[in-house]
Amino acid sequence: MKIHFFEEVDSTNNVIKKMAEEGADDCTAVVAEVQTAGRGRMGREWNSPKSSGIWMSFLLRPDVRPESASMLTIVTAMAARSAIFKVTGAEAMIKWPNDLVLNGRKVCGILTEMKAQIGCVDYVVVGIGINVNTAEFPKELQDTATSLYLELGCEFERRQIIEEFDRAFAGYYEQFLKTEDLSLLKDEYNGYLANMNNRVKILDADGGYTGISTGINDAGELLVRNEEGKLCTVRSGEVSVRGIYGYV
Ligand code: BTN
Repeated sequence: MKIHFFEEVDSTNNVIKKMAEEGADDCTAVVAEVQTAGRGRMGREWNSPKSSGIWMSFLLRPDVRPESASMLTIVTAMAARSAIFKVTGAEAMIKWPNDLVLNGRKVCGILTEMKAQIGCVDYVVVGIGINVNTAEFPKELQDTATSLYLELGCEFERRQIIEEFDRAFAGYYEQFLKTEDLSLLKDEYNGYLANMNNRVKILDADGGYTGISTGINDAGELLVRNEEGKLCTVRSGEVSVRGIYGYV
């Protein structure tokens, strides 16, 4: 990736989107020291204090169908997990579809945005936030968020994690592009899935249900066996999934 470093931005996703509109190349990336308006999924804010985490977005122009592009979020989660493991030794688990958790708290989040025409992807922006050296979180996040520093007790070089991420992403992305789905990656992904074979609560527009999580399929959908024994397919975006005892 060709990485551009910024001191302060509103959101690295916004910066890279603007660069995409101006014709930036595939695999251009932006990293900022601080974000003043970091965004999370479902319209939430993303806490992005100065110099303590990795606030990074990159641009992809894959020649795939729009339905496949959302799977890039899973590809990214795998690469982030690998980078964290290589640099820190910590074995983060993946909370479907793309949160990385350590000891039950979130250490990394991913926000994927796409511009597409009917049947073809114009571009995809993937934003990734990793809480690396954050020493303290705002009160309202303390139960659900953590950092590598808080879990492992020492600080890490953000640059090293970015380099490992870049390397890991290239490998997983190549696999993804071969099939335009997750068939070559899903077994590995399922091995990292928090709550694999455990009871989960699916919270959807109709209230929700509980069932046993049995991992993702080739499309990155979560397969959940409900109380009647029927296998349900859960698509991201529409729902959130919780363990029955809390956030993970
Ligand atoms: C989530 O879990 O809700 C997704 C969080 C994504 C945060 C990253 S930080 C870099 C990029 N810029 C943003 O504004 N958001 C993403």
